[in-house]
Amino acid sequence: MKNYDFIVVGSGIAGLSFALRAAQKGRVAIVTKKDRGDSNTAKAQGGIACVESAEDSFDLHVKDTLIAGAGLCNEEVVRTIVSEAPQAIADLVDLGVCFDRDSASGDFSLGMEGGHSQRRILHSKDTTGLEIETQLLEAVAANENIEVLEHHFAIDLITTRRLGFASPPRCLGLYVLDEEKNTVVTLRSDRIVMCTGGCGRVYLYTTNPKVATGDGVAMAWRAGAKIANMEFIQFHPTCLYHPEVKSFLISEAVRGEGGVLVGQDGKEFMHRYDERKSLAPRDIVARAIDREIKVTGAACVFLDITHKKKGFVKDRFPHIYNTCLALGIDAEKDPIPVVPAAHYQCGGVQVDVNGASSLSGLWAVGEVACTGLHGANRLASNSLLEGAAVAQRAVGNVLEKLPVGQTETFDLPEWTLGNVTDVDELVVIYHNWDEIRRLMWDYVSIVRTGKRLQRAATRLQNLSREVQEFYWNFKVTSELLELRNLVQVATLIVDNAAQRTESRGLHYTLDYPERDDKNWRRDTVFGRV
Ligand code: SIN
Repeated sequence: MKNYDFIVVGSGIAGLSFALRAAQKGRVAIVTKKDRGDSNTAKAQGGIACVESAEDSFDLHVKDTLIAGAGLCNEEVVRTIVSEAPQAIADLVDLGVCFDRDSASGDFSLGMEGGHSQRRILHSKDTTGLEIETQLLEAVAANENIEVLEHHFAIDLITTRRLGFASPPRCLGLYVLDEEKNTVVTLRSDRIVMCTGGCGRVYLYTTNPKVATGDGVAMAWRAGAKIANMEFIQFHPTCLYHPEVKSFLISEAVRGEGGVLVGQDGKEFMHRYDERKSLAPRDIVARAIDREIKVTGAACVFLDITHKKKGFVKDRFPHIYNTCLALGIDAEKDPIPVVPAAHYQCGGVQVDVNGASSLSGLWAVGEVACTGLHGANRLASNSLLEGAAVAQRAVGNVLEKLPVGQTETFDLPEWTLGNVTDVDELVVIYHNWDEIRRLMWDYVSIVRTGKRLQRAATRLQNLSREVQEFYWNFKVTSELLELRNLVQVATLIVDNAAQRTESRGLHYTLDYPERDDKNWRRDTVFGRV
């Protein structure tokens, strides 16, 4: 058993920001299931929202966030995070993060995205997340108080309840699969922070990298923590449509710089859905594209930015430009084929603005968590902001509740293997994985109905039983653990969606197409503690 003052699970902006601050007070382990740089953060293109210009104000940023959130944001949380954004940005800049600046004035160059009434997106060309991740990882590497455990897959939280203690529910540690040694290690800490990102991989089409399998929500759920609003899965309107490249995002910033959505006939269509046209909030644009594709029978729509002056796209969006060019699409001359794809989990482990969950000893920060910032639909580029700002608050909150040095001694039992064998047929795991992703896409994506949700629920019940059997009978592997988490998270999405008998933000059902503020202006919450 290894002891730490803090255990952070996940190595994106939330986990790394928390670890750097916490390391000033004690020893930190960062548990991460792949290489340390494999995170959703590293893939983020657009940027990070922050009020910086004289025309902008915190009130306007709050207002835009509340409008996108469709009546479910927690206004106090929104105001707190929005007003702490400049400090979060200053901290990132101090760590060496380079945001693009106007060459004449030296001020931050501010981008525009859907749902924002002002230019307020700080960016580093179109690889903002990678720039942030790189600088945070450099700082972590230089910090002797932080140990990064790569290729370590967090299996489950160890709680008083799991150990059969009579004392109130709380977290005591974590069982983790060390993939290189193929053993399960026991990590002990009173302060555990989930920063595992979202669950885009639960869908067949997603902009998320392979790591996004909902591990944090599934673990927190099994430990009894409250989970909220999982029905609100954001579909990004513009994922590249190409047979060879499945998950490549075409940043919303492209529309922010004037890109327009057109159909196969080359004609714009967004004016028929919303007066903000291609820059309407994502739920509206994704639904409109879904409808256009279904009505016209086309495979995709197109994002056209060919009207900009030569060299603009290449210079402002080099990553997108070069990736498309390698596939034979010259974005300066050709409209880019795009489709919506699962992008962001707006619900998650229910926490307060400090990241504290309903389970003592467990905090959650970033996409894995539901603070109330996003409500029923996240405003673009508010997520990196949330990760950075709430991570700072969480450190203060953890130390206030459980100062380092006041750790109780517990001898946690080691993981018991039981009578298990190696997985004999990996094909079964891959088959179930594909089936979950396909059924979630067909029955639980942009447009839902009660009947489709019921179909999904029936299939998921069978799949859960099968996966549970594998889990008891076979040695744990990362594939099996991810499958176990995927089926759990898919079930939460379906259960939450089935419960919400209205349409709001990202949850749209043909059975209840109207918003019902009287009955449903509230979170959907499941959990034991
Ligand atoms: C994008 O660049 O479109 C993604 C930004 C975000 O999801 O906030």
